[in-house]
Amino acid sequence: MHVLVAGGAGFIGSHTVVQLKNAGHDVTIVDDFDNSKATAVARVEALTDSHIPLHVFDLCDPDKTEALFAAERFDAVIHFAGHKAVGESVQEPLKYYKNNLDSTFSLLRAMATHGVRRLVFSSSATVYGDESPQPSQETYRPLQSSNPYGWTKVMNEQIIGDVARAGGFKVALLRYFNPVGAHASGTIGEDPQGIPNNLMPFISQVAVGRRDKLTVFGDDYDTADGTCERDYIHVEDLAAGHLAALEHIDEMVEPVRAFNLGTGVPTSVLGMIKAFETATGVPIPYEVGPRRAGDLPVTFADPSRARDELGWQTAKSIEDMCADTWRWQSANPQGYPG
Ligand code: UFG
Repeated sequence: MHVLVAGGAGFIGSHTVVQLKNAGHDVTIVDDFDNSKATAVARVEALTDSHIPLHVFDLCDPDKTEALFAAERFDAVIHFAGHKAVGESVQEPLKYYKNNLDSTFSLLRAMATHGVRRLVFSSSATVYGDESPQPSQETYRPLQSSNPYGWTKVMNEQIIGDVARAGGFKVALLRYFNPVGAHASGTIGEDPQGIPNNLMPFISQVAVGRRDKLTVFGDDYDTADGTCERDYIHVEDLAAGHLAALEHIDEMVEPVRAFNLGTGVPTSVLGMIKAFETATGVPIPYEVGPRRAGDLPVTFADPSRARDELGWQTAKSIEDMCADTWRWQSANPQGYPG
């Protein structure tokens, strides 16, 4: 297939492009480098020994998006593009609603106009809201979120689903749990701008000396060690989930289907610190601070639908996640250059 990867320079996008190329697909990337760097694409090209066509523009521009679809023939789209910082979305909700919805509108319109009817969309476990029993199952209703970023995922799922049902599309909505890790080469990985919001990049920046210590957000939750538990998934397993979805999308009976991408096994914050120290030999100084607003005690996936219907399951351990994150971070202490 010729796959248009929207947001292909980002953390999950770049790893997925490597796997798409290795599986023999043609890839074109569109990215505006709002939260990514051109170096990531150059490194993906080096890893795959190939040239990857790259279009640098904002997908919220419907004319540019239309022009790209008029010029190229795509068989499928994987839509990673979007803002993703939960806290920022609370401060600047319009930025999130505008960007994360307009980009989808442009893509869906161009896909409909040009008869491109396969779409894999980056959704999130955040759509399960605060009330879902754990582990989360795709059948859970109502979908909701506690922040504007999460609502853009709920709204995208609704809009994309309606368009799929009306227009003969086939859509896989992939609900990610907590993506971490990096390519085994250590040449591509997660490169957050500013102070990391998420646990794993914060730990690895402490390890490499960019930050003094980690703050553990609360140790008085009703969990085994008192800290929150999450379903961390290696980005390579996540990328493989996109390939599996793409390869099974024509067999889907329903026009739109959601799939959890997680391991099904939760790990606590303290458990992750310990695993990182064991895998890397680097001590992680930390202090316990107050709870972070909005954090749930425990979230993890029931990944059985993706296993049964896509033939996909995770292969990487928590140790792999830590070792691979560290290989990337220690080789690229400041992230990507440029
Ligand atoms: N944590 C800390 N210290 C930090 C950062 C995080 O203790 O410096 C803790 C958090 O309190 C939480 C756990 O580490 O208990 C994981 O936090 P992350 O921010 O890494 O991940 P979240 O589960 O909060 O967020 C993820 C995704 C979001 C998504 C959200 C809800 O990153 O995109 O799940 O599904 F919206």
